[in-house]
Amino acid sequence: MTIRWKHLIVLAIIAPVLGLGIGWSGLMSVRASSGHWAVTDWFLHWVMRNSVSARAVSPDKVPPLDDPGLIPGAAGHFETACATCHGSPAQPRPDSVMAMLPPPPDLQTVVPEWSDGELFEIVKHGVRFTGMPAWPTQSRDDEIWSMVAFLKKLPEMDASAYIKASGLHGMGQAGEVSPLPITCESCHAESKLNDGSLVPRLAGQSEAYLLSALKAYTGKQRPSGIMQVAVGTLPAESLPELAAYYARQTPSVREAVAQDPALIEKGKTLAEVGRASDKVPACLSCHDKAGANPAYPKLSGQNSAYLRQQLLLFQAGTRGGSSYGHLMSEAAKGLTPQDMDALAAYFSQR
Ligand code: HEC
Ligand code: HEC
Ligand code: HEC
Repeated sequence: MTIRWKHLIVLAIIAPVLGLGIGWSGLMSVRASSGHWAVTDWFLHWVMRNSVSARAVSPDKVPPLDDPGLIPGAAGHFETACATCHGSPAQPRPDSVMAMLPPPPDLQTVVPEWSDGELFEIVKHGVRFTGMPAWPTQSRDDEIWSMVAFLKKLPEMDASAYIKASGLHGMGQAGEVSPLPITCESCHAESKLNDGSLVPRLAGQSEAYLLSALKAYTGKQRPSGIMQVAVGTLPAESLPELAAYYARQTPSVREAVAQDPALIEKGKTLAEVGRASDKVPACLSCHDKAGANPAYPKLSGQNSAYLRQQLLLFQAGTRGGSSYGHLMSEAAKGLTPQDMDALAAYFSQR
């Protein structure tokens, strides 16, 4: 017995020293060019699959993913932040990334192998030692779900469906790759948006507010993986230009969406007088009134899906913004989900 113990102790000392020695000697290759042995490749994938499936969101916690409003923002973000590695229906993976180890897989082929909850886990947290990055912010699960909704659609998309969804433009025939990268308009063009869009309308919004929103994204006070990537590489001096550009635009006239008149009426009352018992203030005391502080955003005519989403974020304490942001978090505290539906319906049609 004593001899065995001695052996174990000697082994426990020698093994790490031997490991360090091999590491120090330079015998271990970290060359990506020589690839993995088949067994290493199998082992790493096996570990990855087990890790992802152990941490996957359970099916009963997956939100509904069939809402078409989820797709455009996620598709545009895919083109800027994912297609560079994974390729897309409009563009194969570049040779440079095919030399990565492991090479990023073609997602059109592999997405069906994963459940919704597993895709969420991969997109939110990324995969260590592979180059697969985590989502730029960890506090916007709603954005990550919209990416999962988009990934589920990807396998059946052809080049022209993808180009349309992602807002790539300057394209000739489907399959011909555009030299023009994704721009603000790819996602925010008035013609792309409708009442169900989670991407907000910018045309005619106050310049002061637009600028403060852009600064809140670049300064990371307002978490959004999609907008952080969209504005992250812009020089600081272009932010005022962009804010001025969008403030000057006239919003296009839209057809009214059929909404329950009782719902709109409920939203109107809340907006005009609030509800003292729950400390809900009258929204119109700050928003959309003559002489209002220009740093308060205009809500009238904004997409109802976007309005509702932002109210949820304010209430959860996730949405930051300008130095006035706390006023709005306070205002959202006493709202029920039904109030949010009513307010979003009312303002979007106002
Ligand atoms: C820098 C390159 C890179 C970028 C950018 C990137 N990925 Fe990946 N991704 C990878 C690599 C490499 C893997 C393979 C991981 C593995 O095999 O273990 C991967 C794996 C995945 C997988 C799992 C597929 C599978 O079967 O292995 C999904 C889903 C995925 N990425 C989605 C995305 C999305 C969505 C984005 C954009 C938000 C993105 N990736 C951005 C490199 C990248
Ligand atoms: C890939 C799609 C995409 C691109 C590209 C994009 N945006 Fe956005 N934008 C979004 C989404 C989605 C939101 C909502 C984010 C949130 O929930 O905070 C948003 C929000 C905004 C807001 C906040 C509006 C408000 O009412 O609070 C501004 C301002 C904005 N974007 C300006 C821009 C500008 C300027 C550009 C170009 C530099 C740009 N965006 C590029 C998708 C995009
Ligand atoms: C005390 C003033 C005040 C009151 C009252 C108020 N808000 Fe706000 N609201 C703000 C400010 C300030 C912002 C901008 C915060 C930021 O991002 O800097 C804002 C932002 C918003 C936004 C986000 C708009 C966008 O484009 O992203 C929505 C939606 C909103 N408010 C809805 C409401 C509703 C609905 C009510 C009534 C229940 C309300 N607000 C009451 C001050 C107020």
